[in-house]
Amino acid sequence: MSSSSAPRIQNPALRRKIMSAAEAAALIPAGATVGMSGFTGAGYPKQVPQALATRIQAEHAAGRPFQIDLWTGASTAPELDGVLAQVNGLRRRLPFQSDPLCRQRINAGEIDYVDIHLSHVAQHAWFGFLGRMQVAVVEVLGILPDGRLIPSTAVGNNKTWLEIADQVILEVNALPPLAMEGMHDIYYGTAIPPRRQPIHLTQATERIGEPYLHVDPAKVIAVVETCQGDRNTAFAPPDAVSNQIAAHIIDFLAHEVKMDRLPQNMLPLQSGVGNVANAVLAGLLDGPFDHLLGFTEVLQDGMLELIKRGKMTAASATAISLSGEAQKEFNDHIDFYRDRIVLRPQEISNHPELVRRLGVIAMNAMIEADIYGNINSTHIMGTGMMNGIGGSGDYARNGYLSFFVTPSVAKGGAVSCIVPMVSHVDHTEHDTQIIVTEQGLADLRGLSPRQRAQVVIDRCAHPDYRPLLQDYFDRARRQGAQHTPHLLGEALSWHDRCLRTGSMQP
Ligand code: COA
Repeated sequence: MSSSSAPRIQNPALRRKIMSAAEAAALIPAGATVGMSGFTGAGYPKQVPQALATRIQAEHAAGRPFQIDLWTGASTAPELDGVLAQVNGLRRRLPFQSDPLCRQRINAGEIDYVDIHLSHVAQHAWFGFLGRMQVAVVEVLGILPDGRLIPSTAVGNNKTWLEIADQVILEVNALPPLAMEGMHDIYYGTAIPPRRQPIHLTQATERIGEPYLHVDPAKVIAVVETCQGDRNTAFAPPDAVSNQIAAHIIDFLAHEVKMDRLPQNMLPLQSGVGNVANAVLAGLLDGPFDHLLGFTEVLQDGMLELIKRGKMTAASATAISLSGEAQKEFNDHIDFYRDRIVLRPQEISNHPELVRRLGVIAMNAMIEADIYGNINSTHIMGTGMMNGIGGSGDYARNGYLSFFVTPSVAKGGAVSCIVPMVSHVDHTEHDTQIIVTEQGLADLRGLSPRQRAQVVIDRCAHPDYRPLLQDYFDRARRQGAQHTPHLLGEALSWHDRCLRTGSMQP
């Protein structure tokens, strides 16, 4: 292959390893642990996973078992999780996914899904807790003459995968603008205890690393050229419920500024995935705050718009996951955004030390909260996995402020998202400061369990469910309850009743 036909692959040794996706997929052994790039639908390999799925299907048709263990940064796309789940090619999956087919197999017990905090993944891999990784498949935007790699639209765990995998397959994607070069900050200073040192990042968008990923060229077994965009999920325009949630949060933040508990430009913002999170950021566009900063894991349309409109000075993330329209805006003004966005490994973007030092304001969506402030982010009815905990715990426990948001009801009002006792606990009452629904905001800071319960019922529950919750709490208090009043049998049957209606399958 001449250099002119592979302009983004400038290293001669690696250029000699260019092959088709099918040839590269043929190098992945059955039963291997494979680390792939990809974070919230960005920067995932586009061709090798599909070629691998085709191969797995053929192996299964020939009666030969073939599955892999798959580790990524976070969720990917139908071209990765979707196709591999479709052909029953996944044995173990970690850490975060949101693919419908993958979810189905996880809930059927056909994939062993290991749901861990995103900040833990790289270090657990380094500690040896997860086993050995045979192959890494990582998307990059280009290979420099000296073999360094220009990272893609997501950094995720790529640095770690390239370091720990026995063999590496690179996908070089020619579609994202090469002008993204320089936007990344890859920190190579992490080590495992007892050699671990402080991470000297003291400002959200400070650069402490270098713009490139490293790989040992001897480990690279294939280089595959692609030219394909990311998933580009469109966001629903904020609806009335999201707008009300956003308004409550903005009022609260303005109050905190007034009370001198937050600076005028606040502290760096983290915003979770989904439409509600996006709506909160949209609400900030017209809010009273300027010179905002972002310190988040995924930069979505809402934050891009804040940067575009000059409300946010700059943002740090590990991935850029945009709708088609926002992607065009980003590509068309790449020089503007390159100076205002830093993309880091997720072990840095989600690092508890940094989240706490910077005083991040964390805003994450949830499935349900209980009246005491325990949060379920992952399980429908305590048993069906939705997506995973993602980075919510990294930010919630360590943030300066931690919001959990949800509409007060789900399934057209058939289910209350405020319940007596959550059916699965992802974040305990100790990590939850503020719960917000469209009904209102419950500030739980400094409150005892009994105080918390009353404020959550009064402020956050939907009027249709408020009397039921109040009745539960009153009877629990009367019936000899101690510090945290509960009627255990009844708390659990709350979900059981919904299950029997059949409206609660994930
Ligand atoms: N009981 C039953 N189902 C519920 C429910 C409840 N209390 N609350 C929500 N649901 C259902 C919704 O009806 C919807 O189902 P559908 O797809 O069949 O319509 C689904 O769960 C998603 O709810 P939605 O309101 O669309 O939420 P969302 O897109 O804002 O996502 C989470 C909410 C919690 C699933 C999502 O934010 C998540 O996966 N969070 C965990 C990871 C995380 O917080 N990451 C943040 C750091 S990036």
